[in-house]
Amino acid sequence: MTYEELYEKARAASELAYAPYSGFKVGAALLTKTGKVFTGVNVENASYGGTICAERTAAVKAVSEGFREFAALAVASSGGEAWPCGICRQFLFEFGDDLTVITGKDSGHLEVCGITDLLPNGFRL
Ligand code: THU
Repeated sequence: MTYEELYEKARAASELAYAPYSGFKVGAALLTKTGKVFTGVNVENASYGGTICAERTAAVKAVSEGFREFAALAVASSGGEAWPCGICRQFLFEFGDDLTVITGKDSGHLEVCGITDLLPNGFRL
């Protein structure tokens, strides 16, 4: 799977985002090392703190189905490029330090960064 294909899955998923409060729709596509893709969207809540980001939705779906080893994550949003927030960076770092993160305003303008570049010295117990 190319980065462009993974990004397109994130972009398609973003249309399913539930974002009535911010209007900012985000889609994520998480590629496992075995080649399976889990998508996720942001799901907002009237109690704003209950909102979950697209990236964590994808990771939670994957982990809850037995997949913990990830190769790449693409993120797309209604606002163009969307780098994972701080909470999501730490959440993804939990499962490895070799994750490649991809975003961009469209699949022709992708930016690529490693999770440890996005989160230097991430926390581990
Ligand atoms: N959001 C994500 O889904 N991923 C991020 O990395 C940043 C923010 C969502 C959360 C909320 O629904 C909306 O974008 C505005 O913050």
